[in-house]
Amino acid sequence: MHTPILPGIDAVGVIDWNVRDFHSYHTHRGATYNAYLLRDQKTVLIDTVKAPFVETLLQNIRELMDPASIDAILCQHGEPDHAGGLPAVMAACPRAELLCSAKGKESILAYHPEAKDWRIRVIATGDTLSLGRFTLRFFETPMVHWPDSMATYLPEEKILFSMDAFGQHIATSGRFDDENDLSLILEEAKAYYANIVMPYGRQVVKVLEAIKNLSITMIAPAHGVIWRRHAATILQAYRDWVVCKPLPKVLVLYDSMWESTAVMARAIVEGASQPGISVVLIAIRSSDLTRIATEALDAACIVVGSSTLNQTLMPAAAAAMTYLYGLRPIGKVGFAFGSYGWGAKGGAEAVEEYLRAMKVEILRDPITCRWRPDEATLALCREAGQAVAEKARAIASAS
Ligand code: FEO
Repeated sequence: MHTPILPGIDAVGVIDWNVRDFHSYHTHRGATYNAYLLRDQKTVLIDTVKAPFVETLLQNIRELMDPASIDAILCQHGEPDHAGGLPAVMAACPRAELLCSAKGKESILAYHPEAKDWRIRVIATGDTLSLGRFTLRFFETPMVHWPDSMATYLPEEKILFSMDAFGQHIATSGRFDDENDLSLILEEAKAYYANIVMPYGRQVVKVLEAIKNLSITMIAPAHGVIWRRHAATILQAYRDWVVCKPLPKVLVLYDSMWESTAVMARAIVEGASQPGISVVLIAIRSSDLTRIATEALDAACIVVGSSTLNQTLMPAAAAAMTYLYGLRPIGKVGFAFGSYGWGAKGGAEAVEEYLRAMKVEILRDPITCRWRPDEATLALCREAGQAVAEKARAIASAS
């Protein structure tokens, strides 16, 4: 089913209601793979969809026109969630040339052997394509989300086709922001930024700079809803997220073998629970990496604990720290804690190594205990929790 956006512009992508794992991103509300059909004197399809859904895409197009009459396919990004359907689409659109960035051509040729027979035109920042009434203006947006990524502006309607930027993983029948609960789509946009876009914050800054003088009334991303009422809201949210703008918030993550580290975590939370401070406690093995990254995005302080297992941190704690290290949240302050038993220490110390690798400002030495935390250790945890809360308050008020 297609969704009309404006006269001559339709959304023809697909809703994937059931996907729950998107290369390890927990898409608990599903996803969409958006594609847009522009019908003018020339007709252009902006992006395709994940390969298993390509017949639905073609059916959506057939509701409007014969795909064989499409003049050009614009591939803004070669990742398979958008370009997986290219071979079938190119076969259904024999007169179409394929437009993509130079890096896009590289990945398309690598992914699709049949692409060597396609008519491919490389486009770059500043290039335009007149369709008749409409004009497409192209922007390369490298690393948002791959080196090949690009976005496209339609000045006549003030629409930015933003590719992965400003997207959300959410399957909804309402294809526009104003047909959904705003707090829900912002929550999903935040999760999407934290888990997909955060490592490329500096490149996103360049994108925001490149589009700052454009008059934008609608942002049509490659995932999730189209921003037509709240475009300014998501743009401002991105300005905050690119700098990981800190809230007065303390995130406490832990993994515990026999509850000692869990008891320490709860004592830290008790100390951190001060007026005006938001405290989030996550037992790593009871959560998922997607939520952990999302909570980390705007937390001023991150405190992480792990019991010692085989003289190092617990495996789930290592997975969480590895994931956060790769996502590179910036400007955080925190410390490590954890218990140990028969052998040497190791869990909290290994956590601190990860925190240092993430360039987290270390507020204090690790808090450790052997076997069970005694009252003195718990008092120390409460005291450290209070100190980290005061630090979060100061960081947030200075930002
Ligand atoms: Fe939605 Fe980077 O692909």
